[in-house]
Amino acid sequence: MRRQKAAPSGSPLTHKPGTAVSLVGVSKVYGTGKHAVRAVEDVSLDVGMGEFLCLVGASGCGKSTLLNMVAGLDKPTTGTVEVLGGRPTLMFQEGALFPWLTVEKNIELALKLRGLHKSLRKDTLQALLEMVHLQDFRRRLPHDLSGGMRQRVALARALAQQAEILLMDEPFGALDAMTRDLLHEELEALWRNTGLTVVFVTHNVREAVRLGDRVVLLSSRPGRIKAEFDVKIDHPRRTESIAVGELARTIIDRLRMEVRSHG
Ligand SMILES: Nc1ncnc2c1ncn2[C@@H]1O[C@H](COP(=O)(O)OP(=O)(O)O)[C@@H](O)[C@H]1O
Ligand SMILES: [Mg+2]
Repeated sequence: MRRQKAAPSGSPLTHKPGTAVSLVGVSKVYGTGKHAVRAVEDVSLDVGMGEFLCLVGASGCGKSTLLNMVAGLDKPTTGTVEVLGGRPTLMFQEGALFPWLTVEKNIELALKLRGLHKSLRKDTLQALLEMVHLQDFRRRLPHDLSGGMRQRVALARALAQQAEILLMDEPFGALDAMTRDLLHEELEALWRNTGLTVVFVTHNVREAVRLGDRVVLLSSRPGRIKAEFDVKIDHPRRTESIAVGELARTIIDRLRMEVRSHG
């Protein structure tokens, strides 16, 4: 378990059973004095084990800041971030692959760094390539792949780290709608088959409703939790379905109200 606190505090925190990530009173201020930017303010949120949680909000509202704190890349100014449900891994919009390494070498590197013995690497690599449907592209370099394929490699690499918590920061934001749809299906299947906990950040509300068990709406900067929506729509879902569209509209209306009230 990793606990990051802004400052030492008194009594130990207790958690609901099955909590994977717990944020209590989390605020983040960048810089000091008149240059200070309040990015996130007083966010308290539990993510359940195996939950697929989507965070939505306008651009610049602090979504990445929140996710980075869960990933351990940044610390809250006040409040507590606890990661209880296993190891987190972060995946960005740009896959951040090593351009000089082939698809399989990119994935294998994660296995190597994890300390997996060479004799086990080959089979694991094969399984991961199959999982993301890249067997036929294993010897290609990242620049020879489409954006969707690059994100598949990034996903395989995240899985190769054997992380239990997948943190995704607008991972499909740069993809065309068709490719995004396919990746939604693959991510959904993966999530179902592996029991991963997913925290998925997006400004695309339909995408959030398509994927999430729960959608948490953040206010404009500083990001505060404005509303939460349980998504009780049967799987498999489709982005263009009526049910997804209806809930997305409700959330978008809230988001618009929120953005308007901040000018
Ligand atoms: N390292 C940083 N230093 C200063 N300001 C930052 C830093 N990172 C983010 N910010 C600011 O914090 C706010 C929230 O940023 P971010 O979390 O990236 O928003 P989002 O991901 O929702 O678009 C923005 O105003 C951004 O400019
Ligand atoms: Mg961001």
